[in-house]
Amino acid sequence: MRIDIITIFPKMFAPVLGESIIKRAQKKGIIKIAVHNLRDYSLDKHKKVDDRPFGGGPGMVMNPQPFFAAVKDIQGKAKAKVILLSPQGRLLTQKTCRNLAREKRLILLCGHYEGIDERVKKIVDAEVSIGDYVLTGGELAAMVLVDGVVRLVPGVLGHQDSIKSETFEENLLEYPHYTRPAIFKGMKVPQILLSGDHEKIAVWRKEQAIKITKIKRPDLSRLGSRAKISC
Ligand code: 6GU
Repeated sequence: MRIDIITIFPKMFAPVLGESIIKRAQKKGIIKIAVHNLRDYSLDKHKKVDDRPFGGGPGMVMNPQPFFAAVKDIQGKAKAKVILLSPQGRLLTQKTCRNLAREKRLILLCGHYEGIDERVKKIVDAEVSIGDYVLTGGELAAMVLVDGVVRLVPGVLGHQDSIKSETFEENLLEYPHYTRPAIFKGMKVPQILLSGDHEKIAVWRKEQAIKITKIKRPDLSRLGSRAKISC
């Protein structure tokens, strides 16, 4: 998978994308991430990428020209899915991440200021938000998306199995985890996990996942209880 990110703050990305699993995925050659400075595509003599809003009002609006030029240049021959990170977008979910992980190429556009010129939407395939709150720009949201998607690309994670049981798969939060010691400050690990009975452990974990989901995320739990019937 190739991911191109278009931003006015290209330096923000290296510290995040150059670490951990995403760094390894790039080293392994499974993922290629390129960060582009939007200003490089501006035809303005001062490399300006924003202007005052038509109709008046506060703040600045990002010009369409640099986005069109950048996408045209990066898109090249191979068609990429163009995603605009914006608080007006569809909420990013695990399902979105799974779908995006199947794409060959993504181009991420990071918006700023009061917003971007509406005409940029013409070259955008999907608008994505990471939650119902406002950030200063789309960069952090783009990093969240990249992290959530890249780990689902086959070969990126060591344990492909761990994806199946993790939080949000089947609309359930994940079951509780324990490791050594078996007793820590008087707190015991549930006996069943020490039993070696893998079938019973699987049933217990599913029950726990359903219980935890009901308590912590009742909005998910209706779908979670449907998962119980299918197991
Ligand atoms: Cl994608 N951008 C901005 N600026 N704020 C956000 C967001 C994106 N998602 C949630 N809040």
